[in-house]
Amino acid sequence: MVKVVFICLGNICRSPMAEFVFKDMVKRQGLEKDFLIESRATSSEALGCSVHRGTQKILTQKNIPFSDRQARKITQSDYDKYDLLIIMETANYPNLLRTIGEDAQGKVHRLLDFTDNPADIDDPWYTGDFESTYRDIHLGCDALLKYIKEKLI
Ligand code: 4NP
Repeated sequence: MVKVVFICLGNICRSPMAEFVFKDMVKRQGLEKDFLIESRATSSEALGCSVHRGTQKILTQKNIPFSDRQARKITQSDYDKYDLLIIMETANYPNLLRTIGEDAQGKVHRLLDFTDNPADIDDPWYTGDFESTYRDIHLGCDALLKYIKEKLI
């Protein structure tokens, strides 16, 4: 079982989008039982809030199932719980380290670093552009799944 947690600032826009996109990909490939997939925030800004309407809308448009969930913050023990902690942008890294301490086992990766075009994923909370975020997240999740299938399962 590979345990993956997607992490962003608020856990209402990007990381839940990545959680549901990745769950859908994994399910389509019949690999559901090999994975635990969740998402968390680095900040307390939106704790308890539902998935952002913009994320809900784009997931609906793309026929990707999602459930009602509330934003949760990453905890120190999550570092041991998960195999891969996948951040959306470089700015998430120092925020994450404030909670988990150091990344001693090299579990933290930026999502688009698995692709041929390493980059941050812009925050649609500020840009309002959920389509571009979806495109990046889909590319990143696709590359991440390939990486996991080659290296970990
Ligand atoms: P996310 O976007 O990190 O992609 O979930 C944000 C959501 C909420 C806030 C910031 C970013 N906020 O400050 O409440």
